[in-house]
Amino acid sequence: MSDAHDEPGPLSRDFSRRSFLKTVGVGPLAAGVVAAREAEAQQAARVLGPGEVPIELAINGRTYKLAVEPRVTLLDAVRTRLNLTGQKRVCDRGSCGACTMLVDGRSVYACSMLAVEAQGKQIRTIEGLADGTVLHPVQQAFCDHDGLMCGFCTPGFVMSTVALLERNPQPTPEQAREALDGNVCRCGTYPRVLEAALDAKGVRRG
Ligand code: FES
Ligand code: FES
Repeated sequence: MSDAHDEPGPLSRDFSRRSFLKTVGVGPLAAGVVAAREAEAQQAARVLGPGEVPIELAINGRTYKLAVEPRVTLLDAVRTRLNLTGQKRVCDRGSCGACTMLVDGRSVYACSMLAVEAQGKQIRTIEGLADGTVLHPVQQAFCDHDGLMCGFCTPGFVMSTVALLERNPQPTPEQAREALDGNVCRCGTYPRVLEAALDAKGVRRG
């Protein structure tokens, strides 16, 4: 007498999605599609590193070629490899906003984005705002309204304000407060930062 457990049954571990498709007669075409999707998924999950990999970053209209380990954040790559130190590393955990850069026009915590992820995107830092010796309108407004004390958080506030005004040149106080709520100032300069954000004129739509 044969033992049913000797034969691979329909729920045995040898039973795969592909054999199911063959069994029910969906045919080789569907099995081919499954195989192609599996190959695509493997390609998409290509492992980078752990050693350095070559990358290109487009920052302030210029292309930089560098090599970084995949674990390196955009902030560290920009500050320590490219010597663009305007954006600050304060909390390094996505809670203070001092590292804020614009990535494809949106404000991003650069300490929470990997440099490898930023490839193919347009990155902007505080160094890219002024035109020679002429300050960007937001930088000028921060000076006019004395919107800084320690100044450490200021580049992040300025970049968040630029992002706001490029999409909404005439924000209400409430809209400005909301746009800047991801930036923290420990010395309490918020009222002057808000005045500067509301008074900056001539920011072109992004
Ligand atoms: S340093 Fe990135 S959010 Fe604080
Ligand atoms: S001005 Fe930087 S923490 Fe207040």
